[in-house]
Amino acid sequence: MSSEKIVITSALPYANGEIHIGHVVSTYLPADIYARYCRMKGYEVVFTCATDDYGTPILIKAEQEGKTPREYVEYWNKRDLEDFTKLGISFDFFYKTSSEENLKLTQYFFLRLYEKGYIYSKEVEQPYCEKDKKFLPDRYVVGKCPYCGAEDQYSDGCEVCGRTFEAGEILNPRCILCGSKPVAKRSLHYFFKLSLFSERLKAWLEGNKNLQSEVKNYVLRWIEAGLKDWDITRDITWGVPIPLKEAEGKVLYGWFDNHLCYISTTLKYLESKGIDGKRFWNSARIYHFIGKDIVYHHYLFLPAMRLGLDEEYALPTAIPTRGHLLLQGQKFSKSRGWYVSLREFLERFPPDYLRYYLSSITPYSQADVNFDWREFAAKINNELVANIGNFIYRVLSFIYTRFDATVPKPRDPDDLDKELINKMKETTLSAGAYIEKNELDRGLKTIVEFSTFCNQYFQRKEPWKRGENAANCLYYAANATRSLAILLHPYIPYSTEELWRQLMLEGSVGMQRWDSASDLLLEVGHKILKPTVLFKKISDEELEPWLEKFKGSKPSG
Ligand code: MF3
Ligand code: ZN
Repeated sequence: MSSEKIVITSALPYANGEIHIGHVVSTYLPADIYARYCRMKGYEVVFTCATDDYGTPILIKAEQEGKTPREYVEYWNKRDLEDFTKLGISFDFFYKTSSEENLKLTQYFFLRLYEKGYIYSKEVEQPYCEKDKKFLPDRYVVGKCPYCGAEDQYSDGCEVCGRTFEAGEILNPRCILCGSKPVAKRSLHYFFKLSLFSERLKAWLEGNKNLQSEVKNYVLRWIEAGLKDWDITRDITWGVPIPLKEAEGKVLYGWFDNHLCYISTTLKYLESKGIDGKRFWNSARIYHFIGKDIVYHHYLFLPAMRLGLDEEYALPTAIPTRGHLLLQGQKFSKSRGWYVSLREFLERFPPDYLRYYLSSITPYSQADVNFDWREFAAKINNELVANIGNFIYRVLSFIYTRFDATVPKPRDPDDLDKELINKMKETTLSAGAYIEKNELDRGLKTIVEFSTFCNQYFQRKEPWKRGENAANCLYYAANATRSLAILLHPYIPYSTEELWRQLMLEGSVGMQRWDSASDLLLEVGHKILKPTVLFKKISDEELEPWLEKFKGSKPSG
């Protein structure tokens, strides 16, 4: 019995658009698999997420739709949670950065950092539109990236080279509302002294053995190149107000408050259960799952702010970081239609198909992952259907028809039976070890190999010959299907719950202990239901419209 405490978060989606399958791959699916596995290990798990509600892009969109920002984000908060739920993402709590709790925690962090001298203010020139009569932070201004020269970038950072920068640095600036050239106007801004944390950040990065070394190394190079102080002020009304008299009408930059929402949301959930949230947080292993585009914020801003409060709230154990999803070799792009929303996908295919395919192709690294429609169908048809589904259906229907739906009594195990028992134990251990290390794709591969072995076992035992082999074969094979239900559960929760139901086992498979997958707990005399197939082949006709929609273009860099 382990009393380990685990906090798992996945990066907060901006409350301004649909979740697409690119979001799923790096962040939500790996976090969910990890959370489900940890629960089955008997750890105390809290898995939280929220919508990222503040920021100029959201304010702009709300204005365009004639809604208040609050109405606008509420819509997306609800939609996002619906989509995640359909995919089987098992958040314990899904909240929002615009919550009362996050406002309080953010203002608390600000004031502590301010008192300690980690935040200072100075007058800066900000782009201002004389026609619209307002300051133009971030996305209110577009122009050319001062580092790589890419056109049509927002004034807070470049999507092409990944650098973040300050408002005044963008070249050829234009107001997004009216197209005119902004003028410079003075405004009092607050800055976080990120540069002061260089040594402490370095020590934390170097000392934390759980961080992925490839990410760590480039973050260390950024530190060596020199960190810049960070403007955390926005002259707009949508955000957490800066809690100082002289800062009236100013709010905090969204990247100051959004990651604090990991803490405020988790604590709110724990406290609703009567648990001391802060104590839990500070004695837990903490994982923030992210995509590689937000490394800078999570490996520098986030730890620096927690270090600034002398670790009153613990720093993460790890920040599992994964690459982007390409679609048929090309970057996702909503504007070019090179894009599949999660909702659209789930209208056509079962959630487990997406979970299975993405889990099997996504490594624990920064490498980009390619969604290929033919490969998707091939994986489902050859692995889920022809390997896993085939074994399970063969075993259950054999028991149903030839053994009166009852698990038969075996004799002493022969060598082949023993091999199966050993494989079951080995797979439970090694798949568990991989998942624990976040090598989710390798964990899955190990389980699929076990299933391949199970098929061979069934084939070699030839139970249809009715000899004394038959009872042994079906007893051990039935137990192997039970083990598969447990081992595959973090990856394909819906199908494994259905299998659990067909096996007429009690409760839900998600409530079982992972380690019990090594044991022969399906008893002699146990009754099962009439089985139905768990997975169906993806036909050419089903695939065709997708191939048609995403055809022709050559992979781009
Ligand atoms: N909304 C941000 C994005 O989509 C991610 C926020 S993660 C958090 O890039 F750390 F800020 F919470
Ligand atoms: Zn303007």
